[in-house]
Amino acid sequence: MNLVSPTKVKVVRSLVELREVIRGWRREGQTVGLVPTMGALHEGHLALVRMARAKCDRAVASIFVNPTQFAPNEDFASYPRDEAGDLEKLAGVNCDLAWIPDVTEMYPPGFATEIVPKGAALGLEADHRPHFFTGVATVCTKLFGQVTPDIAVFGEKDYQQLCVIRQVVRDLNLPLEIVGHPTVREPDGLAMSSRNAYMTAEERSQAPLIYQTLVKAAREIADGSPIAAVAGRGRETLTAAGFRVDYFEVRDAETLSVVDDVAKRPLRVLAAAWLGKTRLIDNVAVE
Ligand code: PAF
Repeated sequence: MNLVSPTKVKVVRSLVELREVIRGWRREGQTVGLVPTMGALHEGHLALVRMARAKCDRAVASIFVNPTQFAPNEDFASYPRDEAGDLEKLAGVNCDLAWIPDVTEMYPPGFATEIVPKGAALGLEADHRPHFFTGVATVCTKLFGQVTPDIAVFGEKDYQQLCVIRQVVRDLNLPLEIVGHPTVREPDGLAMSSRNAYMTAEERSQAPLIYQTLVKAAREIADGSPIAAVAGRGRETLTAAGFRVDYFEVRDAETLSVVDDVAKRPLRVLAAAWLGKTRLIDNVAVE
């Protein structure tokens, strides 16, 4: 069964139809890769779809702006939405199916279950967005149950999210593999993000400093500088340039636990900071 015309991606909005399509693929022995997204797709997302397509016979991208991962004061209402543009981009990378449930398909009346991750979900983002990982873990667990993929591909830009999803899949014995994809960056180093569109031209020109500061910190740690001093300098650099820093931290790259031994590996340097009304997050590995 060929579901893709050369220029169009198949759009599915009901779970009944989604299951039927996936069953058809499974009957033919095909493997399925899922890329969960909230739409407003950019090159970073498309790289994830290409990876899913390279590793599996079929690639599914979900587009669902998940209300449960936004706090009431956050940008759920204004989050960028461009379904027509997204579908064109997905067709361009040979995505087989776009799974676009509405809120009642995802959270029907009576919905009353949450996945509340701890471990890697504690601290960092959670200190500033306490609701976030419960919303993400719950919706991703649902997406895994709906699409039943062999793999799901997540970007390393949201590094804590990637660690949390790996933890949920491991802890709940979910039958899929989580694949991380390196962060896709603009030519000046800024990590691609749907929220970059919120920045003014001046903020956009300052924004790459977050990546530059992370790279410098990772190099200093690799050279043996004490972790607390490096993190402190990172916070100072960004604050002096006008960022409001939520965190700038060095953590164990697998568990995200706090480390003070500079020789420990693998390590990751992670930061979140505001430029005006835009919250940027980024991270780099310590080599
Ligand atoms: O990273 C995102 O876009 C979202 O957090 C995700 C994984 C699609 C869950 O809503």
